[in-house]
Amino acid sequence: KKARIDKTTDRIPMYACQRSTPLQHHNKQFTDALEVLEEHALYRDDPNSEARALAFRRGSATLKSLPYKITHVGQLKNLPYIDSTNSSKAGHCKKIITEILEEGFSDEVEGVTNSEFFKSMKIFCGIFGVGPSTARKWFYDLNLRTLEDIKTKKLTLTKDQTLGLRYHEDLNKPLLLEEANHIAKLVRETCTALRSGCTVTVVGGFRRGKDKGHDLDLIISHPIEGNEEGMLAMVLEKLDEHFIYTEKKASNTKRQTSLESRSTMDHFEKCFSIFKYRHEGSAKQSQSNILHLEGTWAAKRVDLIVVPKSQFAFAVLGWTGTKHFEREIRRYVRSEKKLVLTSHGMYTLDTNESISADSEEEIFEKLGLNFLPPSERCC
Ligand code: CTP
Ligand code: MN
Ligand code: MN
Ligand code: MN
Repeated sequence: KKARIDKTTDRIPMYACQRSTPLQHHNKQFTDALEVLEEHALYRDDPNSEARALAFRRGSATLKSLPYKITHVGQLKNLPYIDSTNSSKAGHCKKIITEILEEGFSDEVEGVTNSEFFKSMKIFCGIFGVGPSTARKWFYDLNLRTLEDIKTKKLTLTKDQTLGLRYHEDLNKPLLLEEANHIAKLVRETCTALRSGCTVTVVGGFRRGKDKGHDLDLIISHPIEGNEEGMLAMVLEKLDEHFIYTEKKASNTKRQTSLESRSTMDHFEKCFSIFKYRHEGSAKQSQSNILHLEGTWAAKRVDLIVVPKSQFAFAVLGWTGTKHFEREIRRYVRSEKKLVLTSHGMYTLDTNESISADSEEEIFEKLGLNFLPPSERCC
């Protein structure tokens, strides 16, 4: 096996969906640095920032797939998106990795990490409902810097942002696997009680094997096409007391049949929510602590997506992530297979014919890809 690895270091596949990327890898020191630069690029607002961000992510993704630790510059030779004679963007990744190999750190990365802009943007974008454009306005136009600044200034906030601030501490603590399993169980039991046969599938980071995450992503479906309809409203009503906030998105299945709308967001009926998670044994705790008579609970983000059976495999694939894995498999499919892949299905680029699949395995097979289990999509 070792010999094979050594022999193939100059042949790492280009697309992340063509190679295994485990959750734990050997080059965290480098990938953390590249991902700081990616994050910084996403915070900025110049025409090149998206492409810059992507270049850092691609370099990082290559390193995550290596079954060994990079210890000297020579090993960077021929690595996709790191060593490329005709790309200045790849050159930037190589420069950062080289700096870290030689000095133990990168001046550029340290500079970004310690910059007021990066630190404030990280705080602001860490608030539920706040994205880079709002955060930039707060930083540049209003000269705000800290969470305290945001809380004390009378800002006009959206509903999301108001709740994001109110539950800031809870929402910035990771959601643990054990907590996620509790919520998934409750949603599953509620769904099957409402309609027999209903399925609730954990997707997102927890499906990839993470033991914590920023939210829980759940796909609600049913083995009989059409029987998933109406489930979202029913489950939300049944669990009403468990939710602090629900932001429902109506399905828009008309739009998914038009080619131009296939590139970005999906059109499933879904709900981005804040769940009131009651801690285990909180009743007992409350008896011994008069100040917490109602028991302790914490706000947790939960996403619910309702999917008809015929699109289930595609939705599971599209919601398992990572975001970069999804971007890569879609890019591969379009460029190499002349097909379009979305969370709804797979279509020929020229004639717009639909290609069905009942499982992720079948999708990979039809795309000419070796199957990667979710735990190997951690790019
Ligand atoms: N996704 C999507 N459409 C959205 C949001 C997410 O298709 N509006 C997909 C993305 O491909 C993403 C996956 O669903 O990879 C899960 O999204 P998210 O919860 O943001 O990320 P996770 O990978 O689950 O990471 P975390 O553990 O931090 O939640
Ligand atoms: Mn998630
Ligand atoms: Mn996330
Ligand atoms: Mn999510």
